[in-house]
Order: sequence, then structure tokens, then C-alpha cells
Amino acid sequence: MTSTARLGSHDVRRIGFGAMQLAGPGVFGPPRDPEAARAVLRRAVELGVDHIDTSQYYGPDVVNELIRDALHPYPDGLRIVSKVGAKRDDHGAWLPAQTPAELRAGVEANLIALQVDSLAAVNLRLLDGGAHVPLAEQLGVMEDLRREGKLEGIGLSNATTEQLDEAAGVVELVCVQNAFSVAQRDGEDILDWCVARGIAFVPFFPLGSAFTGGPAALAADPAIAAVAEKHGVTATQVALAWLLQQDDGILLIPGTSSVRHLEENLAAGDVTLDADDLTALDDVRQKGDPLGAASNGD
Ligand SMILES: NC(=O)c1ccc[n+]([C@@H]2O[C@H](COP(=O)([O-])OP(=O)(O)OC[C@H]3O[C@@H](n4cnc5c(N)ncnc54)[C@H](OP(=O)(O)O)[C@@H]3O)[C@@H](O)[C@H]2O)c1
Repeated sequence: MTSTARLGSHDVRRIGFGAMQLAGPGVFGPPRDPEAARAVLRRAVELGVDHIDTSQYYGPDVVNELIRDALHPYPDGLRIVSKVGAKRDDHGAWLPAQTPAELRAGVEANLIALQVDSLAAVNLRLLDGGAHVPLAEQLGVMEDLRREGKLEGIGLSNATTEQLDEAAGVVELVCVQNAFSVAQRDGEDILDWCVARGIAFVPFFPLGSAFTGGPAALAADPAIAAVAEKHGVTATQVALAWLLQQDDGILLIPGTSSVRHLEENLAAGDVTLDADDLTALDDVRQKGDPLGAASNGD
């Protein structure tokens, strides 16, 4: 298994950090303990994490400020990736923000909050199928922003293969973020699409998502539990190791608000599943609809 993979023009470690869990409950408002959240970020970088996934709408505003306060000035080689295309209302509901003006404002808000001139990549997040504004129009402003140097690479998130085909005809994509995990494999066609083109696939909800009690469901699954016991590791480590072994181009961004979980997740890179394990994990019960879950959250 390789230890790094391509993210546009950069090589980053296969296991990065998803910062969404650092906001308060429901990814809305500040965390109960902001210093604990900053400690997670500092520990991530200390352990070699060089790829952090975030968004201005986590909180909103909260997570990017935590990242800046904890890590700015950023270490050389840290790649911060964000996403645009959504906004929150006063109650935390997730609404589309996909007009060209909203996408531009979204990227610029990230740059200001994170105190950077440019982001390693920005994902265009298609909320509710992304039909609010024609895809080509959304990608047009993303490409303008890339040419202006405000982002290095364009990604697409929550897309179908048809949308990916359309997007790839308009811009160069460097990454794709869709839900995919050992327990929820609807994103397999998206993985195949990325593998065929050498584009980074960055599955979100790699542990099954906090919104649907993913980690507890992983631990309760008999096939995962048996593989975990055999290797003396946790169910979440099995889930991450399984993803890493699907393809060398997959980049992980497990989300956590806990230093202990962060350390455990990064150590999943040392777990190697054998052919028997992979066959056994084919029996994992498929859980729910991640995009349905996502409509209650990012
Ligand atoms: N592009 C998109 O539309 C999109 C959508 C959703 C998410 N994302 C990104 O993807 C990242 C990952 O997704 P996610 O955070 O929603 O879901 P996830 O990584 O599947 O799961 C996060 C949940 O797992 C728990 N957890 C993490 N490590 C654990 C461990 N070692 N043992 C037990 N529990 C553990 C976390 O709780 P604790 O905090 O207690 O550890 C949290 O409840 C996000 O952080 C975000 O950056 C992108």
C-alpha cells in the first residue's frame, strides 16, 4: 500500500483529517471546548497530517477559524481543501448556495477566514442534485477562481457519474468527494470513475458518519468485528484500512473531535487486510442511504 497519493499537483499522505466534527453539535455553532478542538488540529499536524478538509459552512465560520487559530502560520506542505455550494440558515439547515456570485463569495470567505491566498483544492458541493444552477455555469466560476490563483484545483462532490462526465468536459477535476465506506458502497461507480482517470477519490463518511451513528454500527457488525479481533485493532481501523485497500489513489479524511480517535485513525495506515479479510468484509451489512443522511447535514 502506498503512503501518499496525488491531490492535483501535490502528493499528500493517504490519511488526512476531516475537520467537520470540530464544530458544535449538528456542525452548527462553536464546540463545547474550542481549545480541545484546536488540540486535535495541532496533534494532526504533529503526526504528519498534510491534508485537511474543511468548509466555511462548518459552524458556519467556526471550523475555519479554529484551523487558523490552531495552525496559522501553516507548516510548509499543509494542503487545505475546502468546499462551496451550500450555506446554513439561522437554525442550521443546509441550503444550496450555487449561483456564481455565491460560489465566488464562498471561496473568498474561506481565504479570508483561513488567512491564505489560495486553497489546494475546492470542491463544488452539489446540494440536492445540484440542479439549482446549470453545472457548466457553476464550473465556469470555479475555473475563473482557479485562473485567478484563488484555488489550485477543482473538485466535485455529491455528483453522479453523468455529472462527473459533464464536469470533466468543462474543467480539469483534481478530486471527487462522495459518500463511500465499507458499510455503504453506493459510491463504487464513483470510485471506478476516479480510478479510470487517475483522479483522487476522497470518500466522505468513511466511518459511516456521525449523523447516523456510523462508528457504533461498524463495531456492531459481526464481519467487521471478527476482522478487527483477528488483527487486534478497532472496527473503525478496519473500515479505514478497507478503504485504503480499494485503490492506491484513495485519500481518507476521517472526521473526529478527539485526539485519541485521531491517533487511532492515523494508525489504520499500518493495518493490512489479507484476501480472507476482504472476502469476509463483503458480508458487511449495507447501511442506509448516505445521501439521505447527508441532506440532514453536509
Ligand atoms: N463533500 C461533502 O459533501 C462532505 C460531506 C460530509 C463530510 N465531508 C468531510 O468528510 C469528513 C469525514 O466525514 P464525517 O466526519 O462526516 O464522518 P466520518 O468520518 O464517517 O465519521 C465521523 C464520526 O466518527 C467518529 N469517530 C472518528 N474516529 C473514530 C474512532 N477512531 N473511533 C470511534 N469513533 C470515531 C466521530 O466522533 P468523535 O468526534 O467522537 O471521534 C464522528 O462521530 C468530514 O469531517 C468532512 O471534512 C464532506
